[in-house]
Amino acid sequence: MKYKNDLILRAANGETTERTPVWLMRQAGRILPEYRAVRGRLSGFKELATTPALAAEVTIQPVDILGVDAAIIFSDILVVPEAMGLTYEMYESKGPVFPKVISSEKDIDSLKIKEAVEDLEYVYEAIRLAKKELAGRVPLIGFAGAPWTILAYMIEGSGSKTFAKAKKFLYAEPILAHKLLQKITDTTILYLKEQQKNGADILQLFDSWAGILAPEVYKEFSLRYITQICNSITEAPLTVFAKGAFFAREEMGKLNCRTIGLDWNMGIRESRMLIGPTKTLQGNLDPCVLYAPLSEIKRQTISMLNEFGKVNHIANLGHGVYPDTKVDHVKCFINTVKEYTFNPEQ
Ligand code: CP3
Repeated sequence: MKYKNDLILRAANGETTERTPVWLMRQAGRILPEYRAVRGRLSGFKELATTPALAAEVTIQPVDILGVDAAIIFSDILVVPEAMGLTYEMYESKGPVFPKVISSEKDIDSLKIKEAVEDLEYVYEAIRLAKKELAGRVPLIGFAGAPWTILAYMIEGSGSKTFAKAKKFLYAEPILAHKLLQKITDTTILYLKEQQKNGADILQLFDSWAGILAPEVYKEFSLRYITQICNSITEAPLTVFAKGAFFAREEMGKLNCRTIGLDWNMGIRESRMLIGPTKTLQGNLDPCVLYAPLSEIKRQTISMLNEFGKVNHIANLGHGVYPDTKVDHVKCFINTVKEYTFNPEQ
């Protein structure tokens, strides 16, 4: 496939680029009035995510409106537990809720793997449609949740400040936890491969709840499975974003993946030292900086770019963009990256 703009692919592959590529986690969503207009005509988030033509439409919106260097397929990490057998509801104010959760070995045994991957055909169709509409303007990112983060929702049944129930499961039922994590891992590998076959150019794993585990527990119950995924995904460059896992950066440097995502608590120079020189780093402006006046957004973005340096960096926020962020503030971040020329003295 020939791209008009393949900056992100080249940066992900460790090649030198004319400028740093930029996109935003959660760029396809509520920050855009055009997204809210599509969403407002429907029964809810799930209808949008499961209707390929509409999912493809909102995938492309940030490319047209914001000018980002990549599209990310409009979906959710929770489509995987749903396809494995646990349906979820998405409530506007509360977030996701799973009416049925995993509470026994029998529940784990009844989860599907191969059929789950087949049931996600609507995601593959959305990818094919988005790819066609993009017509090579920018590459398309596919994604999945990391096994620990998916387990956390499967056990807890909803979002939580502490995910204490999910953590309790790791400590009280480690054998069952490993059994469940392995099933999620097997499904995720097949799912990511299928996304790549249908047109995803880069794949990203979101370990959103990495930071709530103690370092040794994180190694045993999360990194072990992320390692399996990294070793199995050879078809496309993979990004691992483990929010809050500052303590695991050295180990993440050894993963068989191309890019490591940083959140805003991870110092840039320190991360580079811990992770090593060869991986591409992605991130890491605090999403709250986008609430600041435009001059401050510009200043902080330039300072971030200076610290990362001009190679092996994909500019992004340190987590998803918050829904009440103003579009012109998001554009200021994107345009600052695009106009930047490297000057370490700045
Ligand atoms: O990045 C993108 O633009 C692509 C779309 C995308 C969504 N969710 C759409 C979405 C992606 C990459 C995700 C990932 C996701 N989903 C994560 C990992 C990233 C992270 O933020 O840590 C997690 C933990 C989820 C689970 C999830 N989905 C929660 C907790 C919620 C409720 C909170 C919220 O943000 O509303 C969602 C809902 C969701 N996923 C929305 C969107 C656009 C909002 C729902 C709506 O439009 O009504």
